[in-house]
Amino acid sequence: MKFRVPMSSPDITEKEREAVLRVLSTRHLSMGPEYRAFEQAIEEYVGVKHAIAVNSGTAGLHLCIRAAGIEPGDLVITTPFSFMASSNVILFEQAVPVFVDADPMTGNIDPVQVAQAAADINEGGEAAKKWLPRKGVQAGAKLKAILPLDIFGQPADMDPIREVAEQYGLKIIEDSCEAIGATYKGRKAGLLGDYGVFAFYPNKQMTTAEGGVVVTNDDEAASLMRALRNQGRAEGDTWLEHSYLGYNYRMHELSAALGRVQVARLDELLDQREKVAQYYEKHLAKLPVETINVVEDTTRMSWFVYVVRVENGVDRDKLIRKMGEVGVPARPYFAPIHLQAFMVERFGFELGDYPVTEDLGRRGLALPFSGVMTEEQVIIVSEVLGELLG
Ligand SMILES: Cc1ncc(COP(=O)(O)O)c(C=O)c1O
Repeated sequence: MKFRVPMSSPDITEKEREAVLRVLSTRHLSMGPEYRAFEQAIEEYVGVKHAIAVNSGTAGLHLCIRAAGIEPGDLVITTPFSFMASSNVILFEQAVPVFVDADPMTGNIDPVQVAQAAADINEGGEAAKKWLPRKGVQAGAKLKAILPLDIFGQPADMDPIREVAEQYGLKIIEDSCEAIGATYKGRKAGLLGDYGVFAFYPNKQMTTAEGGVVVTNDDEAASLMRALRNQGRAEGDTWLEHSYLGYNYRMHELSAALGRVQVARLDELLDQREKVAQYYEKHLAKLPVETINVVEDTTRMSWFVYVVRVENGVDRDKLIRKMGEVGVPARPYFAPIHLQAFMVERFGFELGDYPVTEDLGRRGLALPFSGVMTEEQVIIVSEVLGELLG
């Protein structure tokens, strides 16, 4: 192996190490002062009334599904060009994802199709059928919510989606797991719907090792989600009183302490990532790959991954193998959700159902990316890619 470029790396300094060690020398490893302080730091950064810290982005999305009142059989409009978790949380409640395809430009959910799907489902009958999965849908199932996501750190086109939600009385759960700090027309990602979720796995813009946070300005939903993450204990319940069916989705104190330092550094972390993205932009300029289109409405991109699209006819998976052989890792990103085995089995999806998602899934290539990557490393990746693409 010639090179050793890591696929991603967290940006951890002495400050983070000290914060975590400080917690370890107390007796409060969970449910201490750190998680609330972390939540307050997020509330301030995002400019939101409530932040609810949880132990993963997936847990946060699941809480939103519960808060939105989604019940077995209900329909939720979302996109198959996403990370699996955004659809899985719908299935956790035995509800049904209604997929609409992605916008080929950004990879984000196509708002025109969202509007059409909502209108047709509302009308019912034959019009609705075009959008619904072939099987696994109950007669008279109700459309309850829209779950868009801010892909690769770029916010979805949310204004038209909000119009649809208002027209049909739907909740919006914004999966901002990839987009903390991004802005859409000057507004913060995560606040563009009723509830937003950020995730903090180590490859993310900021990390808590594992973890996530829900943000919302809805007081009632926030207090329900606080109860649900803590075994269903409502405010005032004792340790063995559980007003609701809940979960243990709590974030522990070590994660929260780490997260507090990272939020304080977040703008710096985002600027670093922006710089690395610019290195790529420069060094990939002459290569036969498409880079991410950052649209005008994205007033701040929060670079999460660096995904390029190879040309039609390039064997992307062979390319990944060849890059790996010289120590430059790369990954497909994403694999279409509707083609995962259990999705096919449960809902009868077929190849060809969502052509844009499938095309992006076939041609997408995530390159090594992090805020601590050097320009030299970007040059190595670009040169290796260039050589292999001829
Ligand atoms: C779009 C999207 N949604 C949800 C998640 C789930 O977050 P977590 O891995 O923290 O559960 C991720 C994480 O990568 C994601 O990218």
